[in-house]
Amino acid sequence: MADIRNYQWWQRSVIYQIYPRSFMDANGDGIGDLRGIIQRLDYLSDTLGVEAIWLSPFYPSPMADFGYDVADYTNVDPIFGDLDDFDELVRRAHDRDLKIIVDYVPNHCSDQHAWFIESSSDKNNPKRDWYTWRDAKTDGSPPNNWLSVFGGSAWEWHPATEQYYLHSFLKEQPDLNWRNPQLKEVMFDVLRFWLDRGVDGFRIDVAHFIMKDPQLRDNPLKEVVSSDFHKPLGDYDTQIHVYSQDHADIHPLYREIRHLLDEYSQEKPRFSAGEIHIFEWGKWSRYYGRDLDELHMPLNFQLLGVDLQVEKVRQVVDAQEQALPSGAWPNYVLGNHDETRVASRYSEQEARLMAMLLLTLRGTPTLYYGEEIGMREASIPADQQQDPWGIQVPGLSRDGCRTPMQWNDREKAGFSAAGGYQPWLPVNDNFGEINVAGQLQEPGSMLNLYRHLLSIRKSSPPLQIGSYHPFNNIDKNCYAYRRILPGHREHIVLLNFSPEQLTINLGQTGIARVQLSTYLDRDEHIDLSRVHLREHEGVIVENAG
Ligand code: NOJ
Repeated sequence: MADIRNYQWWQRSVIYQIYPRSFMDANGDGIGDLRGIIQRLDYLSDTLGVEAIWLSPFYPSPMADFGYDVADYTNVDPIFGDLDDFDELVRRAHDRDLKIIVDYVPNHCSDQHAWFIESSSDKNNPKRDWYTWRDAKTDGSPPNNWLSVFGGSAWEWHPATEQYYLHSFLKEQPDLNWRNPQLKEVMFDVLRFWLDRGVDGFRIDVAHFIMKDPQLRDNPLKEVVSSDFHKPLGDYDTQIHVYSQDHADIHPLYREIRHLLDEYSQEKPRFSAGEIHIFEWGKWSRYYGRDLDELHMPLNFQLLGVDLQVEKVRQVVDAQEQALPSGAWPNYVLGNHDETRVASRYSEQEARLMAMLLLTLRGTPTLYYGEEIGMREASIPADQQQDPWGIQVPGLSRDGCRTPMQWNDREKAGFSAAGGYQPWLPVNDNFGEINVAGQLQEPGSMLNLYRHLLSIRKSSPPLQIGSYHPFNNIDKNCYAYRRILPGHREHIVLLNFSPEQLTINLGQTGIARVQLSTYLDRDEHIDLSRVHLREHEGVIVENAG
């Protein structure tokens, strides 16, 4: 019989993503920091009730891409604190049984990293091959047609040594060459460094980019321009990126990384989640490894662009369930630091429905800071825009989802001490109405919905690890599924995706108890042959029968 003790922490947990610049500023310089996160640990573990936090990069960086351009993989940028602060954060988090996941950025570093400075100093430098340098074609153009995700060619000319270097993102983010054995070893040492400091796992940035075609062949052009992503990316959508990412050699490499993590797991279980923007299920699921010997979880982004229709949403869930190798663990993402905020993609009722979906499906959910209070996308005045992607490709800015966390209705929303510096991005104007302190006082708030969902999930083994069984043919607007674990009462989740009221016959008789409604006002027994749902209402019921 399935026993919850046989499941690892990362299968039972809800992971909360913190963008350190924007979460809590303890020293009043307008930028969030590690001590700020320490101050909010009680909120995370007690008030909200998540079990793991993932920190976006806090490493020394010129911040061309706000930390995803790492200048030193084994330190803390002074704007965020220092290694002592980090150690204290890990210790205090672990005291509360909160796991710590850090971001690992293996595809590229900063052009200010000492390795790149050395590599670019001379063609014969021993670290030259730690990056991908190539001569220009005879006409002076770049070695191939690869494009940067952020716009333009993926090659930058380096006049001093008269070669191009590869950068799949900004030119300030040169790609590391994982085919070089020394580079590979130092990057493995980076993992060891943080594992030795006690981290529980890694979120691996653009994990599918780190192995490319060794012959650097041109990518084929698409006959019809279309995005492989869940949103259009501009010029990048003109090519099929077969040669610039996801090379077959990536899988043996992840097996080595997994082996390293498994060695550390003998002390305590460690974990890896890969940011893998591959939307073909077969290719995506290969990152689990054929014998579950690669990543613990390739992150699943397929809910991000989904239309809010039962058949579309269910298709994502069922397709993932089918694509999983035997024994692999599913996961779902609704928002992160690269995406339009959930509460701005949907109406309030729809966002509540999606929160219930996310937290009741089989698999590990990730939450993005502020999602739990329904933080909205902010509109940032042109002269305060920060995101290099948005500056390079208008319309793709990610600033709107990265504004300071809204803690209360006081100055700077409680993110940063009063007086002093202005936050690095403006606080969303709506912080007077949307903030943690206010929502804690309001029984029906979004925050209270998340708190209830997290608490029910935590106390319900079927919701955490039970199997998933969708109901068929009940109503085209209602998505309903069972979560079953032998020895426990089954849970049934019903989600009304329409703006109309519905009465659902689940095809079974019996009385069940409503544990939670997205309206937060129902505590009653219902008849399973006549379940009444209001507009966009979701309910979790516990079947007594
Ligand atoms: C993916 C990260 O999520 C994004 O924020 C970053 O800009 C790119 N990788 C480049 O590191």
